[in-house]
Amino acid sequence: APAPVATAAEVDVAAIAHRGASAYAPENTLAAVRLGVQMRADLVEIDVQQTEDGALVVAHDNTLERTTDVEQKFPDRAPWRISDFTLDEIRTLDAGSWKAPEFAGEQVPTLAEVLDVLQRGRAGLLLEAKSPELYPGIAERIAGELQARPSWVRPDPEARNLVVQSFDWDFVRHFHDLLPQVQVGVLGAPTEAELADVATYSNQVNPNQAQATPEYIAAVHEHGMRINPYTVNDAAQMRILIERGVDGIISDRPDVLRSEIDGA
Ligand code: G3P
Ligand code: CA
Repeated sequence: APAPVATAAEVDVAAIAHRGASAYAPENTLAAVRLGVQMRADLVEIDVQQTEDGALVVAHDNTLERTTDVEQKFPDRAPWRISDFTLDEIRTLDAGSWKAPEFAGEQVPTLAEVLDVLQRGRAGLLLEAKSPELYPGIAERIAGELQARPSWVRPDPEARNLVVQSFDWDFVRHFHDLLPQVQVGVLGAPTEAELADVATYSNQVNPNQAQATPEYIAAVHEHGMRINPYTVNDAAQMRILIERGVDGIISDRPDVLRSEIDGA
């Protein structure tokens, strides 16, 4: 039987695998998600975007050329925007070889596939809606995909650990209205004056690590929100942030992070 799901309430400082365990496996692929789970991340962070035919896929950049062989396979389709390709076309791409030959054949995953992988284990999901302004209807599509899987959207503390975040705060507010039982987070660093408004809809503020000063962490906590800085790959910096009382850390190296959290 699978291990029991770790709910948000049970997790102390959350170890969050950035784009999966992306230091070691190609970012935002199932290989990276699986490795994040294997390295005992509490949550796996992924970036979600939308294809021309409305499928939800997992990729960081708005275009496909950095992390796939799209230039070779579709030389006439520059600038290779995700929104200009169908899911079937994207599924022909190799999303692993750029990282290392052993990952040849990794595909750009769908959100559904990532949910399937995570559902086999304890880890939760930090789902970033990337550039939602490019994808009309993406909030409703993400909400629909999650609602089809009740363990993620149960309106009680036994729900799987799920947070939906974005740099687009209007998206975050809208998503909160769509699925109020799901935790949401704003990416970036609202000013202290903005925090009161952000706290009316958001559960988290997830800034760049440079902005996670003791004063800023205290301000976010005073407004009743959690704070998970990104992208922290240096063990000494992890220790400093744990000491300052952050709620989670987003890292490409979830194995290093796990041992810093467990040793703290
Ligand atoms: O989860 C935070 C982090 O992923 C935001 O930046 O560019 O890596 O999506 P980026
Ligand atoms: Ca991200």
